[in-house]
Amino acid sequence: MLSDSGTTAMTNRQWAALHEGDEAYGSNHGYFILQEQIRQTFGPPFFELGKTPNAFLFHQGRAAEDALFHALGKTGKNLIVPSNGHFDTTRANIEANGIQALDLFSPELKNPDSREIFKGNMDSERLKKLLAASAARIPLIYLTITNNTGGGQPVSMQNILQTAQAARTHKIPLFLDACRFAENAWFIRQHETGYHTQSIERIVHEMFSYADGFTVSFKKDGLVNMGGGLFLKSGGAFLKKFPKLPNQLLDFQILTEGHPTYGGLPGRDLLALAEGLKTVTRNDYLTHRITQVQKLAKKLNQNGIPALYPAGGHAIYLDMNRFFEDTLLTPADFGGIAFTALLLGQFGHRACELGNFAFGSFNPKTKKESFPEINFVRYAIPRLVYEEQDLNAVAEATQALYEYRHRIPGIRVTYGKELSLRHFKARFEFKKN
Ligand SMILES: Cc1ncc(COP(=O)(O)O)c(C=O)c1O
Repeated sequence: MLSDSGTTAMTNRQWAALHEGDEAYGSNHGYFILQEQIRQTFGPPFFELGKTPNAFLFHQGRAAEDALFHALGKTGKNLIVPSNGHFDTTRANIEANGIQALDLFSPELKNPDSREIFKGNMDSERLKKLLAASAARIPLIYLTITNNTGGGQPVSMQNILQTAQAARTHKIPLFLDACRFAENAWFIRQHETGYHTQSIERIVHEMFSYADGFTVSFKKDGLVNMGGGLFLKSGGAFLKKFPKLPNQLLDFQILTEGHPTYGGLPGRDLLALAEGLKTVTRNDYLTHRITQVQKLAKKLNQNGIPALYPAGGHAIYLDMNRFFEDTLLTPADFGGIAFTALLLGQFGHRACELGNFAFGSFNPKTKKESFPEINFVRYAIPRLVYEEQDLNAVAEATQALYEYRHRIPGIRVTYGKELSLRHFKARFEFKKN
């Protein structure tokens, strides 16, 4: 459960498609099949074969983000990219190119009593204020669907539309970080008025009709183990605002990933992806997948485990602040890290701390730690991998550790607390009680 990214078990149809792959250096046939599938899934304007390149394949999502922000960073100074919640690599890629990455989480996300379904929404009021004060500094607005950093929570169609309207008013392009687009569409179908009788495909088309471009990691709702892309809507606000960028992006892609028709991926993987995109918008697949996550959430909730409820589509986010609130641990004891270590060492389940350690930082000058607004441990559920009894075992292990919480020791960081992206690099030991 460390990640739902690239951990998908591919379907038999995907394995079959893999065998059809051709590894020609240029124009392998899978590229054209994938092109057609992307047009069908997201809408024809996102993959044209016209003179202006507008669809760029990359080996994963962060490579697409790197290409986009590498190019955008050169278009101005003091730029800001607001989002409903930047994923960590997105934020890092934005900041690495001298741009400020700003999270505008919805107020419901921070309210533990809120039973709002669409807690992943952009805070529209804060966005409006930001646009009124600083529109000229904003090259694009980002919406992450579903909002991974924001508890994996979905974003409503109403919020996507409102954000798009605010963007249009200021002639700013709207981008989607679209990794979990199909899961987001399922929540809209399930919970938003007027969508219950619509197909997932149709809902996805409406979501993307409001966007001027998107970056995506296909390791999630592409149902593949590797893959990503950057897609710019033909005739959209992004291409109007930055007409020179597509050529720069193409150069970047050729220099870093290879021929544009494979974009860092084997030809066979392009076919597996085209097949995965057909499965992922099936309502029966999505219902199976998300119900599995929700059943685990229900068990944890019944056992009083503090987490973000209702759960989103791909993961459960345990709230470590509330988990340890009646214990002696302080934020600098990194209870979330201690919890994940014990969950792995004692029970064999691997979770991911996304809180005080991953999103906090240590200032070597002041010797002070600063902590983020939200402090989670995430149970990400790989797609098509587990059975119900596997997840029942996770619920039991969590319960055992919750009962034991007063005896869980704090953590000492033995290496790397001052480093950037420290959660990928650090080493720890338990403090002695
Ligand atoms: C919302 C979001 N954006 C971007 C990425 C980056 O994708 P990748 O891991 O393929 O680089 C991830 C990966 O987990 C993600 O969840």
